[in-house]
Amino acid sequence: MMPDSSLSQVKASTVIRNIGQLVTVAQQPIAGASGPLQVIPDAALAVYNGMISWVGTDHGAEPLFQQSTGAYKDGITIIDAQGAVITPGLVDSHTHLVFAGDRAEEFHLRHAGASYGELLAQGRGILTTVKATRGADAETLTQLAQARLNIMRAYGTTTVEVKTGYGLDKITEETCLRIINNLNAFETNPVHEHDRMRVVPTFLGAHSVPPEYREQREVYVNLIIEEMLPSFVGLARFCDVFCERDAFTLEESRRILVRAKELGYGLKIHADQLSPSGGARLAAELGATSADHLDFADDAALDAMREAGVVATLLPGCSYTLRSPYPPARRFIDRGLHVALATDFNPGTSYCESMQMMLGLAMSAMGMSLEEALTAATINGARALALQDAIGSIEPGKRCELAFWSIRDYHEIGYHFGVNLVQSVLVSE
Ligand code: NIG
Ligand code: FE
Repeated sequence: MMPDSSLSQVKASTVIRNIGQLVTVAQQPIAGASGPLQVIPDAALAVYNGMISWVGTDHGAEPLFQQSTGAYKDGITIIDAQGAVITPGLVDSHTHLVFAGDRAEEFHLRHAGASYGELLAQGRGILTTVKATRGADAETLTQLAQARLNIMRAYGTTTVEVKTGYGLDKITEETCLRIINNLNAFETNPVHEHDRMRVVPTFLGAHSVPPEYREQREVYVNLIIEEMLPSFVGLARFCDVFCERDAFTLEESRRILVRAKELGYGLKIHADQLSPSGGARLAAELGATSADHLDFADDAALDAMREAGVVATLLPGCSYTLRSPYPPARRFIDRGLHVALATDFNPGTSYCESMQMMLGLAMSAMGMSLEEALTAATINGARALALQDAIGSIEPGKRCELAFWSIRDYHEIGYHFGVNLVQSVLVSE
């Protein structure tokens, strides 16, 4: 076969060969691909400077090694994927990873009849975890968070958004933000390629009104607006608010998010989770990057979100844990919204690090197809973090952040459940 002339410009420092199926989730057609997810059988891909520089068939990769321009020719690292399925690394765009303690007791109390909302209103729930988190030192919090991150990576996640929200005072929130930024193994751990992950920090000071401000909630809202938000610029990429009857009102949420937007934060909202709070409409009004949960969002609010380009992030781990109805994904997809899936990893409503579990639930309980679920867990997760131009699919120009699956056919995803089908991830520098 003649060398493909389009390959003459391709640069490669690493070439991954012998990929059984490359599930690109790419938006543009690629020659040789088939199906809505552009699955390339017997594939290869090239990486240069941490970026995907070429994608194609394994056979088509040969010319990469034969170019006369190949100053790098002898220096190419070859990775043999041994027939593995490769997808984009999974993107978990909603987690509460930094906390101490657990809430196993409340989990079992709920099974005996107590509701999540009742426990929250009694000052338990989130506030139980706030107490434990305030009482832990930074080193302990870091170790706990790092261990959780390691599990996420082992299950195929390469990008994770991490929220604060269990400090709820300026010092503890700042400590948690600094921990999150240092978890960014992407920068701090260049030695072990397989240990790197992309971490996106979010400030969620408006998670719950802390006990000391229970009778003067406006003072706490002002503290967020006047002190925390301005001093956390640069430490957090997004600002999130729990807009809910037992947390922050629509008006309080608007004040906080308007200020955050002025300061340059991207916006996220825990919207309409336990009751119709108006959060989805607020997300549309303010141009939030995502609105999350959305169990009680009405049709008009969803239409407004679509028009404003707000990603709908669905969190099936909560439904599983709270034994509440799963978000009907079809309703969102059929209205033309971009749907993302995330774990919502937290000690109260979704104590689960595994995006594979969310993929399985999306398919078995939310009416999503495999293609929709994989899209939601990769490129749409990236969209929910405003990172869709950098990650979330496997195509030239994107960062090389991949999950290697120990399966022969990607149709096993969601079908073979409750076990880890990912063998490793690769996040190139
Ligand atoms: O996304 N809804 C608010 N926050 C979390 C729960 C946090 C907790 O219970 O600790 C959620 O479900
Ligand atoms: Fe959450």
